[in-house]
Amino acid sequence: MKSAKLILDNQTIELPIIEGSEGERAVDITKLRNNTGFITLDPGYGNTGSCESSITFIDGEKGILRYRGIPIEQLAENATFSEVMYLLIKGALPTKNEITSFNNELTYHTMIHEDMKRFFDGYPMNAHPMGVLASMVAALSTFYPENSEGDVDNNIIRLLAKMKTLAAFAYKKSVGQPFMYPKNKYSFEENFLQMMFAVPSEPYEIDPVVTDALRLLLILHADHEQNCSTSTVRMVGSSLANLFISVSAGISALWGPLHGGANQRVIEMLSKIEKDGGNYKKYVNMAKDKNSGFKLMGFGHRVYKNFDPRAKILKSASDRLLNKLGISDPMLSIAKELEEIALNDDFFVERKLYPNVDFYSGIIYRALGIPTRMYTVMFALGRLPGWIAQWMELRQAKGARISRPRQIYTGSTLRGFVPISER
Ligand code: SDX
Repeated sequence: MKSAKLILDNQTIELPIIEGSEGERAVDITKLRNNTGFITLDPGYGNTGSCESSITFIDGEKGILRYRGIPIEQLAENATFSEVMYLLIKGALPTKNEITSFNNELTYHTMIHEDMKRFFDGYPMNAHPMGVLASMVAALSTFYPENSEGDVDNNIIRLLAKMKTLAAFAYKKSVGQPFMYPKNKYSFEENFLQMMFAVPSEPYEIDPVVTDALRLLLILHADHEQNCSTSTVRMVGSSLANLFISVSAGISALWGPLHGGANQRVIEMLSKIEKDGGNYKKYVNMAKDKNSGFKLMGFGHRVYKNFDPRAKILKSASDRLLNKLGISDPMLSIAKELEEIALNDDFFVERKLYPNVDFYSGIIYRALGIPTRMYTVMFALGRLPGWIAQWMELRQAKGARISRPRQIYTGSTLRGFVPISER
């Protein structure tokens, strides 16, 4: 076992160095505080590993992303989303029989309890679907309590199957249309699309081009190791809170504009640039000016310091999809121009800021007819199997403990209470 020597005051401590299957190395500081009284400090956790995981591997320098060792490019090309859900949660691609029974289970749990439907009556018309989704997923815990391991397995299927129904119902509520129930003859993607876009007077016509684009988007978002929302799911799950409430917390974290909420902000930014006469340079310069408070949404990443492989796939997929659907979307050309200018500007090059998964995804959601405020919901639908896989891994980890970081206190030192008459 290799080790690192740390000299603190007048003592030297040896800390084990651990190495992962892809050669990543860490200094294991598990014993640091007990042996030295010191902790480490790393706001934003940019240098801190929270766990060992065998689910997803990212190499930020080389733009590598693999689910359970399989490159994202191969999964994007060949897999169904339910195969990827199975791969992430069970650890290997399913056999024909395994995926058939998995899909059957998902199909027969897609409906939500009729009593849950009434919850939607209470939301205002303009409720943001992410707020609806986070609360409805939390509410699932009141219908399906988690009292045993068996409940956990059933609740994993229930959540995978029902979250797309809750998402579609949230959309229907926002447009004042009747809810469309799931139909067992459809695949995961087809069922979601028909619940979103069918109306009683007109069944939804399944278009394989649209269904395949949705498949791709869901797969590309399915997991991404210890990002903000996944770390939130793990944090909440570490207290032994149930699956639904842990995932609801993940949905809440994802909503932030620095994280999954960026995909909605990207399209809002692109349409603002379009309305401003396509003045890209002005917005690139604003992004470089710290005082502007403006960021180029969809750009930059904590881990990818080269291209985000998902952005590359989405960029070419958006071209192909718009051509197939005969759509010319000005947002796509603005996005490409913006990328071109930014990637040749020192500010972005020095800071290694490249388009991330959120930069092009909105172009495809638009082409599928999905409204802007539903984009982060789509991100959550894709990320769900990853959240579940990570939550399960946390629960099953040897010596799993509640997550409880420390701090360095910088407030007032000891002082007494002063009665109000003397303040
Ligand atoms: C996702 O972690 C994951 O894996 C997330 C995700 C997933 O799949 O789960 O990949 C999904 O969340 C993608 C990111 C979506 N967010 C955005 O597109 C929002 C815009 N991006 C930034 O807010 C930012 O790049 C982050 C949040 C993505 C990363 O933030 P970091 O790692 O804390 O980087 P930073 O803010 O410290 O930036 C470093 C420098 C700073 O400048 P200096 O202080 O060095 O001068 O780069 C600048 C930043 O000001 N910078 C940007 C910028 N992003 C970073 N400047 C302008 N526009 C930007 N978009």
